[in-house]
Amino acid sequence: MVHRTYGRLELVELPVPAVKDEQVLIRVKAAGVHPGDYYRMVGIPYAARLGLGLTRPNQTIAGGDVAGVVEKVGAKVTRFEVGDEVFGTAEGSFAEFVVAKEKLLVHKPANLGWEQAAAVPTSAATALRGVRAAGPAKKALVIGAAGGVGTFLVQLHEGEVTAVCSGGKADLVRQLGAAHVIDYTKDDLGTGRYDVVYDIFGNRDVSVLRRRLTPNGKLIILGGMSKGKLLGVGRGLRAAALNPFVKHQLKLLIVLPTTKDFEDLRDRLADGTLVPVLDRTYPLTEAKQAIDHVMAGRAKGKSVITL
Ligand SMILES: NC(=O)c1ccc[n+]([C@@H]2O[C@H](COP(=O)([O-])OP(=O)(O)OC[C@H]3O[C@@H](n4cnc5c(N)ncnc54)[C@H](OP(=O)(O)O)[C@@H]3O)[C@@H](O)[C@H]2O)c1
Repeated sequence: MVHRTYGRLELVELPVPAVKDEQVLIRVKAAGVHPGDYYRMVGIPYAARLGLGLTRPNQTIAGGDVAGVVEKVGAKVTRFEVGDEVFGTAEGSFAEFVVAKEKLLVHKPANLGWEQAAAVPTSAATALRGVRAAGPAKKALVIGAAGGVGTFLVQLHEGEVTAVCSGGKADLVRQLGAAHVIDYTKDDLGTGRYDVVYDIFGNRDVSVLRRRLTPNGKLIILGGMSKGKLLGVGRGLRAAALNPFVKHQLKLLIVLPTTKDFEDLRDRLADGTLVPVLDRTYPLTEAKQAIDHVMAGRAKGKSVITL
């Protein structure tokens, strides 16, 4: 599935890509979908076009998260062999074959299905970094708890979690370990105070989020819709600018996953302490519908494209 112009996806036949020395060719079994796939497809925020391509996308094949079987390895690859089952990130994963950097892959635990493994890379790594940035916080408020990042974060946070989601998803977040649930459609963020507030989704003002923090609490901004299409991180930048002047710690996290993140996640997935939540699966030809579903903002876990 390729986007040759911003905003459109089309199915085309392309040659199987060649592998360079430090790369691995993967036969794709499943590809996870996340909001970043949409932003890359439409080239928003506009500042990102400096890297993505000013007038048309440089990297035309869509998708970034992958699970599949190693088909070929480059001359300098040491960790993988043909036939290994892997997951990780690889630009252009909405395809039958994709080339990945060796360092952005790990072996898939045998207890994990292809769809589950493809659901993990970007969203779970983002959640993991958020939890690391929070440190050993006790009480946490997780805004956007039932979505792609949130369903991992609720499981990864080690202290008491209060999950914010719409009422229909309360049972899900409780099963994932949340001690309390706030239905934001009735009670917005409630009246409690927390050692850490993870802001994954929504566009609440930083002042609203700070009211939910204890005096030395931390605000970790991982995502959320921003009205500005130029930079897309307006709230996060405002929080970072305010940070030196207040007692609260206010952080914007932009996560680029590493081998270490994926190894940590793989171990938790293998021992069953982390379980991906699947929302919907789509065939490759419906990649656009999968992205539209995620961008509707009502996700219940992760959506995945299967091949
Ligand atoms: N920092 C990074 O490096 C990084 C990496 C990956 C993703 N992200 C960002 O993280 C954000 C979330 O991604 P995601 O994959 O988790 O999204 P997602 O799967 O679409 O989940 C969004 C969730 O937010 C909930 N929600 C919608 N409106 C809300 C509101 N007003 N208040 C509270 N919750 C609300 C929805 O639940 P209900 O249906 O219950 O409303 C849904 O479950 C996106 O902005 C994405 O771009 C950032």
